[in-house]
Amino acid sequence: MPILKWIRYGAWTGVALMALAGAAIVMGWWQVDGPGRPDAVRTAQQTMLPIGGAFTLVDHSGKTVTDADYRGKPMAVFFGFTHCPEVCPTTLTQMASLTRQIGAEADRLQILLITVDPERDTPEQLALYLQSFDPKVVGLTGSQEQVETALKAYKAYAKKIPTDDGYTMDHSASVYLMKADGSFRTMIDYHEDDKSALAKIRMVLD
Ligand code: NI
Repeated sequence: MPILKWIRYGAWTGVALMALAGAAIVMGWWQVDGPGRPDAVRTAQQTMLPIGGAFTLVDHSGKTVTDADYRGKPMAVFFGFTHCPEVCPTTLTQMASLTRQIGAEADRLQILLITVDPERDTPEQLALYLQSFDPKVVGLTGSQEQVETALKAYKAYAKKIPTDDGYTMDHSASVYLMKADGSFRTMIDYHEDDKSALAKIRMVLD
């Protein structure tokens, strides 16, 4: 029965392709941060380097911290700055809504906002800014060099853009979801729908 055989092969090929597409979605392989800019995951894949790693920064209470201080807790890490007009407020609002939807279990999730603008984002400025959002979010700053080390570890992107009245920062908009052992799990895209973002957060909470 050659026709039946072909139908069966076709069905299995379809299943395999759907599984691959599913894996690609979970890993965030397709993601692009801005117009034509390859995203951090793709860059990391090209260079075969893991996402995440060692950093030393200063938290919004003024205390020096390292990545090791957060070991044992799943983390949601993203890069931004307090003068950000849209991406950061949107991300902070969405993260607050997502953790609210998950409930008490999400208390284990350590949300870290690493500034890409240490020039303006002092610990005091970060503390003031985060009061308007989720007080559980920890803001991290440091010297330009310390921030660059963190950016490099996460394969994230930041660029100073001059404006008429000073400057703004262009930066990666994804949220990196890290497992409790500090290793990279997956990322949430900017404007990703809640359903998919919730599923991803639950993956690192397990
Ligand atoms: Ni931003």
